[in-house]
Amino acid sequence: MANVVVVGAQWGDEGKGKIVDWLSEQADVVVRFQGGHNAGHTLVIGGKVYKLSLLPSGVVRPNKLSVIGNGVVLDPYALAGEVERLAEQGVSITRENLRVAENATLILSIHRELDALRESGSAGTKIGTTKRGIGPAYEDKAGRRAIRLMDLADLGSLPEKVDRLLTHHNALRRGFGLEEFSPKAIYEELASVAPKVLPYMDAVWRLLDDERRAGKRILFEGAQGALLDVDHGTYPFVTSSNTVAGQAATGSGLGPGAVGYVLGIAKAYTTRVGEGPFPTELFDETGELIGQKGKEFGVVTGRKRRCGWFDATLVRQTVRTSGIDGIALTKLDILDGFKTIKIGVGYRLDGETLDYFPASQGAQARVEPIYEEMEGWSGSTAGARSWADLPAQAIKYVRRVEELIGAPVAVLSTSPERDDTILMKNPFEG
Ligand code: IMP
Repeated sequence: MANVVVVGAQWGDEGKGKIVDWLSEQADVVVRFQGGHNAGHTLVIGGKVYKLSLLPSGVVRPNKLSVIGNGVVLDPYALAGEVERLAEQGVSITRENLRVAENATLILSIHRELDALRESGSAGTKIGTTKRGIGPAYEDKAGRRAIRLMDLADLGSLPEKVDRLLTHHNALRRGFGLEEFSPKAIYEELASVAPKVLPYMDAVWRLLDDERRAGKRILFEGAQGALLDVDHGTYPFVTSSNTVAGQAATGSGLGPGAVGYVLGIAKAYTTRVGEGPFPTELFDETGELIGQKGKEFGVVTGRKRRCGWFDATLVRQTVRTSGIDGIALTKLDILDGFKTIKIGVGYRLDGETLDYFPASQGAQARVEPIYEEMEGWSGSTAGARSWADLPAQAIKYVRRVEELIGAPVAVLSTSPERDDTILMKNPFEG
């Protein structure tokens, strides 16, 4: 039995929630390895709706161990809040079912404020972030001045660490003409939340390796999508973590061999929230219709998502940068009823044809998509549970997508209901 990593193969919001939930049922351990509470998904289990942003999906199921790895940036207040909300829904979260890496970086109020300030426009660096403080927290981690979870267990030496952090942040504040942060207030912010989060702290690298050696099945749950990866995405319009599958190892403290089968999730069309290039974006009524049918509004921020045709060139690239073994193609039913459907198959740039997405920001903004047009289908794919239920043209579309992206469709999702799924391959079976 392989372990499985699930990653978004586009710009996030690919419908990972349903697939991760289905896989988490078969897993013993579910691990988050990057991002933070900028992610958001809704799980519907036994008629109950659970909204998660920081906790791994396995947490709502009994007898699963959920792990937040070192690659995650952890807002301790968001964690405590999510734990409390779930408790109100009857889900008990204890050290028995949740562990958090002792070396995870903390998101503090200063990070949220800086994120919001940069996004306000006055600082001239708008990315369209979720304003959760994700970017500034990762900056402090790389800058070697971050406060980490384990620091809350040693309150005696915390003031010194807070001072080091504020030397940097208060210089920025002065530059922006803002009042400086008080070390005492930051210390108190941390000291008061410590008892709520410390009970979950652990050496996650060791725990996960023990679980792996004991033959437990591990599901690595990625957040966002490969095109938001800080290295491989549409930089600078990206999140601040590595979102590709390789991060599952680094962000949890295991070797790359432990990761196993890589399942990429892709929507049958494309969406994006926030700023940045999007070659197949639609600005017409077709785009509006896709957005309405697909209910394309963000779970975390409620923002309307930009919509466009499936861009096979981009997904082919993420198949390669994440080493994707198979794709779960979601929301095929949203394309039901379109007379014609387009697929982006390459780009035109300055009179040349490209079969990849160039890395430079300027080129990414200027490429024009080359489309292949296919006849749509009039029948419905919604709720289909076998190939035989699908209109012939829909099957043709899926087959063409596979051909263009260079990866097989392992799972086809035809509605938000968990049973409305066509399974070609169980990723846990390798
Ligand atoms: P940040 O992660 O809040 O810094 O936001 C950086 C970029 O990533 C913005 O374009 C966000 O809209 C995008 N982003 C962050 N989290 C998600 C997500 O879970 N789904 C989709 N986009 C996201």
